[in-house]
Amino acid sequence: MSITELPVQPPSGPEQVAWLRENMAADGVQHVEELHLWNVFTHAEAKQVLNDTVTFSSDLLSVQMPEHLRKKLGLIAEHNLARKDPPEHRGARNLFQQAFTARMVTRLEPRIREMTDELLDEAGTGRVDVVDKLTYPLPITVIAELLGIPTADRDTFRWWVDTMIGASESDEEFAASPEAMEAAIDKMTGTVKKVEAYLLDHTLQRREAPLDDLISRLTQASVDGVRLSDDEVVGLAGMMLVAGHLTSTMLLGNCLHYLATHQDVQARLRADRSLIGSAIEEILRMSPSVTRMPRITTADVSLGGKTIPVNSIVMVWAASANRDPAVFAEPDRFIADRDPNPHLGFGHGIHFCLGASLARLTTRVALEAVFDRYPSFTAEAGGVEFHDNPNMVGLKKLVVTTS
Ligand code: HEM
Repeated sequence: MSITELPVQPPSGPEQVAWLRENMAADGVQHVEELHLWNVFTHAEAKQVLNDTVTFSSDLLSVQMPEHLRKKLGLIAEHNLARKDPPEHRGARNLFQQAFTARMVTRLEPRIREMTDELLDEAGTGRVDVVDKLTYPLPITVIAELLGIPTADRDTFRWWVDTMIGASESDEEFAASPEAMEAAIDKMTGTVKKVEAYLLDHTLQRREAPLDDLISRLTQASVDGVRLSDDEVVGLAGMMLVAGHLTSTMLLGNCLHYLATHQDVQARLRADRSLIGSAIEEILRMSPSVTRMPRITTADVSLGGKTIPVNSIVMVWAASANRDPAVFAEPDRFIADRDPNPHLGFGHGIHFCLGASLARLTTRVALEAVFDRYPSFTAEAGGVEFHDNPNMVGLKKLVVTTS
């Protein structure tokens, strides 16, 4: 197929792989006039974009969205590190990292195991939708635990976060219709306010009487004598939920889906659990929860032999770069112990995912618990449904038969 015959709208789910392969073979960097954006498919060019934060800004909202709408998005969007550029990004990330240490993550391991076991107890055996019973509830419960949100509030909290995330449409729809953008924002404003009020209440309590949780630690973090304001703590805590909930749900779901449909790999990982970590990386490479990362150019720039003009939207396709044959031998083959595996599933450069170690830990612990619980599991025919959103690869439903 020639590039002119390829559909401009990216498909979602497993069909996306062929679309990306054809596009990457046609050209590593492409202008899509109809959508007013540039796609970057190859690994070297993807890294060039992610490394050059001066020319490729992450602050798309200030260009794409009028100020009155940006204000409606609230504190979580305002303090989202992923959308900030240096030097502002550096200070905020440093403060955040001071509070969110590796130790905080590793010591969660026994709790993650307990929470997984509780969810598996409720799931029972036989026919189980593991998205509904495990991959969906687990990550948000883990993040709530990390933040220090009381168990009793978690269901309400989860409902709010779902509403907030569910309101967002794909970038193409936003770009095509400012009305769609405003309607989606209005739909979630009420919920955003509730989440903010809830987190603010906790922030004020923790400033008074700190505990050993992330919200308390954020209230105390300081770099060069500068501390985070209450609004910043609320924004950063909320950002963790938004950035970590669905992404981790999808990673665990994609792992379980692969294992449920590849019994040989499942048997191999059961026999040698030391492979689970590298197998998770391979799933992130082949089915990254975040398929693409948007940037906007601040100047005319040359990329992959093309000149991209200033103020252009650039979509960096991790899902494609992760299968670039120039970097990955046999890119379409799952290799459980692939090494090295420089995939872009957690991004690259200064915005590299802050929750990567938490997501890796949660996924590994959950897979081990599933192996312990069920001697085997297979996907039920007709029981698999993917999200219909080109920005992500993940499952809405995964019914397995357990033995
Ligand atoms: C499998 C799960 C996850 C995946 C695939 C994922 C993916 C990513 C990617 C691709 C980026 C880079 C975005 C960009 O450059 O535009 C990112 C950034 C980020 N992620 Fe994750 N993420 C996951 C889990 C989490 C979790 C659990 C948290 C927190 C609890 C989290 C917090 C963040 C934050 C705060 C950033 C922004 C960092 C910065 O800009 O400095 N993520 N993530």
